[in-house]
Amino acid sequence: MTTAEMPHGPGMGLAELAGQTKAASPGQGPSRGRMDISGVTAYYRGRPAVTDVDMAFEPGKVTALIGPSGCGKTTLLRCLNGLHMTVPRASVRGTVLLDDVDIYARDVDLVQVRRHVGMVFQRPNPFPTMSIADNVTAGLRFGPRGQRRAAKLADVAERSLRQAGLWEEVKDRLDKPGASLSGGQQQRLCIARSLAVQPQVLLMDEPCSALDPISTLVIEGLIDQLKQDYTVVIVTHNMQQAARVSDITAFFTVQGPGQPGRLVEASPTKDLFSNPTEQATVEYITGKVG
Ligand SMILES: Nc1ncnc2c1ncn2[C@@H]1O[C@H](COP(=O)(O)OP(=O)(O)OP(=O)(O)O)[C@@H](O)[C@H]1O
Ligand SMILES: [Mg+2]
Repeated sequence: MTTAEMPHGPGMGLAELAGQTKAASPGQGPSRGRMDISGVTAYYRGRPAVTDVDMAFEPGKVTALIGPSGCGKTTLLRCLNGLHMTVPRASVRGTVLLDDVDIYARDVDLVQVRRHVGMVFQRPNPFPTMSIADNVTAGLRFGPRGQRRAAKLADVAERSLRQAGLWEEVKDRLDKPGASLSGGQQQRLCIARSLAVQPQVLLMDEPCSALDPISTLVIEGLIDQLKQDYTVVIVTHNMQQAARVSDITAFFTVQGPGQPGRLVEASPTKDLFSNPTEQATVEYITGKVG
């Protein structure tokens, strides 16, 4: 049994973890937020869903995970912030490092890890009746309230909405419900919500799959901006999207039903699409399989 399979206690506090994974100042590029994974196998009920993955996710870069349905892209993504462990009888073997912190070490609290490794899901999931501003600061709103705190929350909301490229569209209706926004706006609201807690890493699981082409381009432009300050990992089924937004592309495959997915190759995106080293990659990107 590795540390990843052990039960989690109250663990290391945010301050302690934050001290080890502190973000760089905006504009200077991120110096933290590197993730290194080795020998990672993720299980559901003891069966491996994706197996023995070694790779690194670098600050200032977008890494795309591609591959056929069921090869374990979502599962692996959820291993990067411990969300996988919230599934009953799920486990992880191997090591996942966020900078120098082994996120599955016994004394690390995965709830705190998720403040450093944020996630945006396939379908925008704002709290529908909560206001736009409150949606953004939902992850911060505990502890004492009061005027000063409210003012700070307002600042956080504005900063995060600006980062998510949504401020100009919503600044006059911050008190309106999250559900009053379009799908593309809701997805940017969810990105703003993730950014509000100042993570170092942003995980995105097919963030554009529910969006129209215009909203998709808006989100892709945003990802290009965000990578200056974050480590970004995106799962996408759209190979053109991987080619447009990512610096590194990792191709996963799966032999068949019941088999675990595996990483075939991870390369600079232009190399993977123009000169893949593995036959399985060639067949996938030329549309012969998958
Ligand atoms: N909660 C779960 N319980 C049991 N098995 C699961 C669970 N979630 C996923 N799996 C299995 O794990 C494997 C990998 O699934 P995963 O969702 O990670 O694939 P994916 O590459 O994201 O696929 P897609 O492209 O369709 O989203 C699949 O065989 C799937 O059936
Ligand atoms: Mg998936």
